[in-house]
Amino acid sequence: MNVLLVGNGGREHAIAWKLAQSAKLKKLFIAPGNPGTARHGTNIDIKVNEYDKLVKFAMDNNVQLAVIGPEDPLAGGIVDKFEKAGIKAFGPSGAGAQLEADKAFSKFIMKANSVPTAESRTFDNFADAKTYIASRDEAVVIKATGLAKGKGVFVCEEPSEGILAAEKMMCDKIFGAAGERILVEDKLLGQEVSILALVDGRNIYVLETAQDHKPLGDGDTGPNTGGMGAYSPAPIVTDKIMDQIVREVLVPTVDGMNKNGTPYKGILYAGLMITQGGPRVLEYNVRFGDPETQPILARLKSDLLEVMLATCSGSLDKITLEWDSRAAVCVVMASGGYPDDYEKGKVISGIDEAEKLKDVTVFHAGTAEKDGVIVTTGGRVLGVTALGSSIAAAQARAYEAVEKIKFEKAYYRKDIADKAIKNGSKS
Ligand code: AMP
Ligand code: GLY
Repeated sequence: MNVLLVGNGGREHAIAWKLAQSAKLKKLFIAPGNPGTARHGTNIDIKVNEYDKLVKFAMDNNVQLAVIGPEDPLAGGIVDKFEKAGIKAFGPSGAGAQLEADKAFSKFIMKANSVPTAESRTFDNFADAKTYIASRDEAVVIKATGLAKGKGVFVCEEPSEGILAAEKMMCDKIFGAAGERILVEDKLLGQEVSILALVDGRNIYVLETAQDHKPLGDGDTGPNTGGMGAYSPAPIVTDKIMDQIVREVLVPTVDGMNKNGTPYKGILYAGLMITQGGPRVLEYNVRFGDPETQPILARLKSDLLEVMLATCSGSLDKITLEWDSRAAVCVVMASGGYPDDYEKGKVISGIDEAEKLKDVTVFHAGTAEKDGVIVTTGGRVLGVTALGSSIAAAQARAYEAVEKIKFEKAYYRKDIADKAIKNGSKS
């Protein structure tokens, strides 16, 4: 079977790496891909938002399955376009993708279906938002309702900070149209986990757990990023908590989407805070997480292509996922300056040496090949991923690999997975 994978980040390299292991795969095309995905298939020079060109390419090349990595084309309705052309596509419809693309819609689905989440109010007028925030006497979270590459959320300890954040979004339009409408939410306390589940419209199949590290700095300090590292499994998610998440979050969300006339299929990713009162949804994403996908797929033993086909055809009840019992840790190496401005074009060395270490895979994210050398082109550059007999062992191996890789102004957190080790992983 020929497959077209859409995207060019670390998540897509991990998906390409895993799809390439399938006996069912004939040809893999990646649009536009990166030097990492090029190792597993053919990169095609079409951008993720060039929907018609992508569909035409798929038709001309006998592609039977399109796999959509990022949220933007999903929200733009790319899956509907592939399906209209008779090509199966892994991911939700444009309407389904609004669960991520419109945080006001996702709150509506949560509230309508009693899914536990923080109290919130929506505003599209700064003066009203300001009055409301000023009337509060505690920490608030200000969220752009539209897509802002994971950066559209400000956790503010004081209402005055919250007003500034709302002003930046609504008046200065730092996120463009995505921040014209905002949510003002109560701040929740607890530990965050990412739960990813396959959903075929009806059946829900939860993947192994993972935990991301969104803040830039060690000890969860500094601004939020797309994610600086992740590990799997997340020991904080006990069987009891997982049961609660399935019962109180995933099932009512999938049912709610059906009731709303927007049935959901693809990956449903719930970003959760495990509070003292139980799990609360922070956000939904409608795709694999980046970098959570890297450690999750590093542990998946089953054939990802078969799993994706079952998701598209509504037969998730017929498959069983097999997992590597070992743990995986992914450390993101970023360009110095990210998530703000950073320089590009820095030569990267040491990837081959890092991959010579046992059970290490280096997933490319913001890289390009220039005159035969790999250079940086993005904020998040590489996801250095290692398996180990415990989280501590995987962590040690991942950092051993990171130390072999060099580029000017490389930045990475030194504490990825420390939390899991404290949370009582067998180490
Ligand atoms: P989101 O994109 O909505 O997941 O928000 C990005 C990050 O902001 C989350 O991963 C949390 O670290 C933080 N965050 C979002 N909402 C809240 C909340 N209600 N309370 C505390 N932290 C939050
Ligand atoms: N790592 C967070 C995300 O993919 O949204």
